[in-house]
Amino acid sequence: MQSRSAEERREDLVRLYREASVCTRCPLSQGRTKVVFGNGNADADLMFVGEGPGQQEDLQGLPFVGRAGKLLDQLLEGIDLSRSEVFVANVVKCRPPGNRDPLPDEIEACKPYLHKQIDLIEPKVICTLGNFSTKLLTRSQRGITSVHGRPQVHELGGRTVRVFPIYHPAAALRSTRTLEELREDFAKLPALLAEPAPVPIGAVAPVAAAVAAAGPEPEPPQMDLFG
Ligand code: URA
Repeated sequence: MQSRSAEERREDLVRLYREASVCTRCPLSQGRTKVVFGNGNADADLMFVGEGPGQQEDLQGLPFVGRAGKLLDQLLEGIDLSRSEVFVANVVKCRPPGNRDPLPDEIEACKPYLHKQIDLIEPKVICTLGNFSTKLLTRSQRGITSVHGRPQVHELGGRTVRVFPIYHPAAALRSTRTLEELREDFAKLPALLAEPAPVPIGAVAPVAAAVAAAGPEPEPPQMDLFG
């Protein structure tokens, strides 16, 4: 199927933003100042998904504007990328009170927005930051400590995408060991972005498909066994 142009997808993303900005699907809407939909390049190859807005994000309506955001900027600079080239979003679009963890019902209510964002942006790589986005997008309970730094292939937004779990920058601000690991994982991103799109899950790999289409090999001609 022919995918829609970047302009069409961007327009749909703006429509989705308008819908999210008045959302009342969960109780988090009652305590928010602004919905933090996400921002960046609507046609980005690389998308980051954090957990949820903090106080500064809630006030400004933008993701990762606090200390964790500054670290994200530095890490991006280290691989010659800027925030305007990537798209940054969160699992929940409204701030949980007192920065508590988002609840399962809140994540569930907000999930369609994230999936639609992935569908419209069509990223090649989704970097999940920390446990919440990693567990949601890998559909697994395996935590970030055991899965970070190793790319996975998942079906998301109707496409096959590489999901690359890494530590949340806020966790790296609390531990130098975590910061080192986050830097090491970040350094793997350019090579990951340069890889060809992953083979769709369930599809037969091209070589295997060609062999199958050609049918069974003909019997080798009988040799002159009897003189
Ligand atoms: N932490 C997040 O997970 N998201 C933000 O937007 C800011 C901090």
